[in-house]
Amino acid sequence: MENILILPGDGIGPEVMGEVRRVIEWFGTHRGFETNIDEDLVGGCAYDAHGAAISDAAMEKALAADAVLLGAVGGPKWDNVAYEARPEAGLLRLRADLELFANLRPAICFPALADASSLKRDIIQGLDIMIVRELTGGVYFGEPRGIEDLGNGQRRGVNTQVYETYEIERIARVAGDLAMKRGKRLASSEKRNVMESGLLWNEEVTRIISTEFPEIALEHVLADNCAMQLVRNPKQYDVLVTDNLFGDILSDIAAMLTGSLGMLPSASLGAPDAASGRAKALYEPVHGSAPDIAGQGLANPIASILSFAMALRYTFDRGADADLLEGAVTRVLDQGLRTADIMQDGMTQTGTSGMGDAILAALDSAEA
Ligand code: IPM
Ligand code: MG
Repeated sequence: MENILILPGDGIGPEVMGEVRRVIEWFGTHRGFETNIDEDLVGGCAYDAHGAAISDAAMEKALAADAVLLGAVGGPKWDNVAYEARPEAGLLRLRADLELFANLRPAICFPALADASSLKRDIIQGLDIMIVRELTGGVYFGEPRGIEDLGNGQRRGVNTQVYETYEIERIARVAGDLAMKRGKRLASSEKRNVMESGLLWNEEVTRIISTEFPEIALEHVLADNCAMQLVRNPKQYDVLVTDNLFGDILSDIAAMLTGSLGMLPSASLGAPDAASGRAKALYEPVHGSAPDIAGQGLANPIASILSFAMALRYTFDRGADADLLEGAVTRVLDQGLRTADIMQDGMTQTGTSGMGDAILAALDSAEA
């Protein structure tokens, strides 16, 4: 029996996670995937209920779960809450307390969506990049941080970009392992021309890859150039490893290449447990809470459903089931079904649950 904690969160989170639940149930009925599913609050809804973006009780459940599936957090309703209690703080606490240092963000262009991208078809057709973003270090968590009153009508805002060797080593190894399973090509991105932490990143990545993964062709690219290259010729990259902040930015760029943020899943993984070999894991769509369309049944549930496919692959060791689910999504898109965010001329528009229905039907027919 696998223990799954669902944290739907805010905005469109509950709607898209409702479809994920149906998909999980399908795998229970048809593929013997036995689960205990629990649900709790994170983000603004948790603040409304408990005054904190995630309660200690929900954190306990997350620590005990085999996998956490998260929807999205945030919205204008919570613009004025205390900074420590803002919705995003719940997500950041989950990442920190579960030590989810490796964030895998695949950017894959589905053939049926090649024309939905703002880039020309030949630039993105067949795109398949894996961004490996460091998730528990850098400027997101570095100390000192804060806003200081300088007393003369001036204030000072401080954040600290800091990386230690072990943090760079472990993310380089995750990237190296992935590159070995893919094209044996790895690009590493930082700003060594401006930041000492970037210089250290560059040197440590070079050391780990050259000594432990000598077959991998490693390239270093400055983060600003990398942003430009991702738009100019994204297919030059296979696996791309970078720090927390640059990974945040570069993964949004990569996501949009594929047509819509509504398509992109992610996995955040910790170190494998010494006894079980299983890593703590949180799966979430790359898109946010989209408050403008929340509650209208318009949101695209595909990124969340593909995040569950990543859970099948990386936590539950069910690669064949992950293939089945990804195949079902591909077929639904090939049939011309679209949510509003990926709608194109001549296609059929549907909503959140319509897309869920179609994916379940595609699973049924694949199984029959
Ligand atoms: C992401 C998001 C988060 C981040 C926010 C919601 C804190 O943008 O997962 O990319 O900056 O990491
Ligand atoms: Mg982001």
